[in-house]
Amino acid sequence: MMSPQYSQITGWGKYAPPKVLTNYDLEKMVDTSHDWIVQRTGIEQRHIAGEGETTATMAVAAAQKALAVAGLEPADLDLIVVGTSTPDYFMPAVSSLIQARLGANCPAFTISTGCTAFVYGLVTAHQYIASGAYRHVLVIGAELVSRFIDWTDRNTCVLFGDGAGAVVLSASDEPGGILAFDLGSNGENGMVLAVEGGGSANPFSQEVLDNKQIYIQMNGREVFKFATRILPQSTQTLVEKAGMSVDDIDLLIPHQANVRIIEMAVRRLEIDPQKVYVNLHKYGNTSAASIPLALVEALEEGRIKKNDRLAMVSFGAGLTWASALLQWNGPTPNGNGRVR
Ligand code: UT7
Repeated sequence: MMSPQYSQITGWGKYAPPKVLTNYDLEKMVDTSHDWIVQRTGIEQRHIAGEGETTATMAVAAAQKALAVAGLEPADLDLIVVGTSTPDYFMPAVSSLIQARLGANCPAFTISTGCTAFVYGLVTAHQYIASGAYRHVLVIGAELVSRFIDWTDRNTCVLFGDGAGAVVLSASDEPGGILAFDLGSNGENGMVLAVEGGGSANPFSQEVLDNKQIYIQMNGREVFKFATRILPQSTQTLVEKAGMSVDDIDLLIPHQANVRIIEMAVRRLEIDPQKVYVNLHKYGNTSAASIPLALVEALEEGRIKKNDRLAMVSFGAGLTWASALLQWNGPTPNGNGRVR
């Protein structure tokens, strides 16, 4: 057991399947148009997993890159936390599949809070590090949503995409890391975004199949209302918990669901849009993979430098929300710090 520590992101990696599905491709599948999708969501394309790919294969690909950046071997990991709602199987947990395929020898568990699961996982990992219990925790957000989509339902099939992102969170003496977090759940309204069949309440049957209850069903307007309320509210709570203001945020990385949700939050928070990271036009909504995919791309583009304060703010099924304020005290790819 060590003494309490700061946490630091020492490695990062992403994986998006090579196959790209454009809005024009979707025009041939359902009654929709490129213009409608771009105007209502901002999404231009999404990546779709190929036949041999699963949530675990994508997660492992992202995790191996994160370990390489951190200069660590799988054997160095003390814990693996995976955020996903689209696991390979109900049982065993996909976190154990990933642990085995990486060749790690450590505990592993899955968090299934929808699109917020990566940030829930990051905050959870931070607790193990801050308490001194663990030194290196691998946190993954991986999602293969395309296999849980009704490809005849234009209300949902245009929105989602597949992918994975991973970070290594390590113990550090360097001040910074996670400064504050805000987690929440409002289950009363949870069925507005649900896979209704196949669980203990409504076990798998021919009827479940006929009613398409194995697929994601969503009341988009209700989720939209929740998202536009919670995104600014949780960001505000986050900075207040850290004794800061919205002006102190250097980069806001919101959950990448819909550019209109992000624009409304930008207006309400009165934050400079230049400080808001958006890449949903390329990936669509990748659920729990969305924030790590955005974080990794922001790093790769040199958007993050030493001591920058990043606000990662997510919302999703549950309904849940999860936000973390992180002061960058790790290495960066552009020479500000050290990439081992
Ligand atoms: O990670 C969290 C997961 N979910 C979300 O973040 C989703 C949040 N919600 C949204 O992003 C938006 O509500 C949507 C993008 C899903 C829908 O946008 P909207 O502006 O709320 O549209 P709407 O549901 O009010 O529908 C407007 C019209 C409807 O037609 P009528 O009833 O007015 O004739 C829909 O049937 O647009 C129609 N529509 C479409 N038209 C063309 C719905 N989907 C499509 C489509 N293409 N793909």
